[in-house]
Amino acid sequence: MTAHDNSCFIIEGGAPLSGEVQVAGAKNAATKLIIASLLSNDVCRFHNVPRIRDVELTLNICEALGCVVEWIDHACVEIDSSGMNEHRIPFKYSGAMRTSVLFVAPLLQRFGSADLQTVGGCNLGKRPIDYHIDGLSNLGVEVEEEDHTYHFAATRLAGAKVELAYPSVGATEQLLLAAVGAKGRTVIENAAIEPEIQNLVGFLQSMGAIVYQDACRTWIVDGVDEFRGCSYTVINDRIEAASFAALAVATAGDVYVRGADQEHLITFLNMLRKAGGEFEIDAAGIRFHRKNGLKPVVIETDVHPGFMTDWQPPFALLLTQADGVSIVHETVYEHRFGYVEAIQRMGACIQLHTSCLGNKSCRFLNTHFDHSAIISGPSRLVARNVEIPDLRAGFAYVMAALLAEGTSTISGVENVKRGYSYFIEKIASIGGRIREEIAAG
Ligand code: EPU
Repeated sequence: MTAHDNSCFIIEGGAPLSGEVQVAGAKNAATKLIIASLLSNDVCRFHNVPRIRDVELTLNICEALGCVVEWIDHACVEIDSSGMNEHRIPFKYSGAMRTSVLFVAPLLQRFGSADLQTVGGCNLGKRPIDYHIDGLSNLGVEVEEEDHTYHFAATRLAGAKVELAYPSVGATEQLLLAAVGAKGRTVIENAAIEPEIQNLVGFLQSMGAIVYQDACRTWIVDGVDEFRGCSYTVINDRIEAASFAALAVATAGDVYVRGADQEHLITFLNMLRKAGGEFEIDAAGIRFHRKNGLKPVVIETDVHPGFMTDWQPPFALLLTQADGVSIVHETVYEHRFGYVEAIQRMGACIQLHTSCLGNKSCRFLNTHFDHSAIISGPSRLVARNVEIPDLRAGFAYVMAALLAEGTSTISGVENVKRGYSYFIEKIASIGGRIREEIAAG
């Protein structure tokens, strides 16, 4: 999202952090489930929906397409899509959020056509939608581009075999949403299998879809003619949980993250342990703290079940406090290190490299992209005025400011509001000295 609101966070560093935070429902599941509900003419009800900007935008699009949206309580929303009457995804919203592209499949099921202008999202690289377009074409969709608008059309989607060039989360979701109502069987190979996708598949099954998960990243879908409305619960946000875990450990704090789900954090917890973090798990959440100093580690981000790219910025910030040299190899986005320059100005010692550091080469080998980082620590951080470039970088900047000596001003806070609910309240509730102000000028 590039639009700016005028507010900023004022953060005074150095306060010890302890207490409890409650993780919300996952942004990257809730938004997809809401979009999937448009496959049915009936009412769908979702629980554990996070109150964040991306959910708001998703619901705005639903309303613009003719759905009726009603919040039942603070985390429960109902969508009635029986009155849908529009196949054009409004640019006003799609330009602000990448997930908008996923409306294409339900619109094709409902109307046989969908129009989409450019999609937005965090600036982490080029982020094209070619896998979506190629996959949909395999299922019989005709795609034309004209004046920055894609026109998608299909009289009836037909099942097919699709092998993705990369296990893209969005493209897998798009194809699942298209395949569940296509005629016959669709096989999606080299697909993404993230927990948020499992959540989507669970919801689709509850609506009446037939979806099998096969070995080796394969989804098999037998198309059905009808989808019914149902109630479904969004999984907890494993990115928010990991963000607060990294914050607790980096600041030598002690935070119980209620709703942190071990099953979805296995890789993160292993890495945190290697870096010197401590945690105790119970049925309701995980307590994070540390006894000793932090140790350097080597991280390579990857698709699930690898180390999530969205855990990377908070974890890299944690590594600025480790005693020694860490390596972070980012293999999902070519431009994920856009946040580093500001952290360097705050005193972190980070060098970026175009080569693939770590144990394996990735898609960005022999490119000019700075996608590996060498982080030397521990660094004493000092307060600075910084502007947030993207959602997860935003959390890392807040971490840096909470660790730093002095008072930092952080602008671009709308990026954080896209994905973290009740953000200021949660940081303040564990002792972080943070407030929001309308920026001067
Ligand atoms: N890609 C293509 N062509 C495509 C689709 C993807 O080249 O048609 C490339 C992307 O440019 C990227 C890689 O494939 O280099 C992975 O992209 P993917 O499609 O998997 O990501 P996404 O669906 O756009 C979702 C999350 C991201 C998360 C990634 C990876 C949502 C709304 N977003 O994005 O979350 O980083 O999967 O796990 O689900 C965030 O929450 O802050 C966030 C950025």
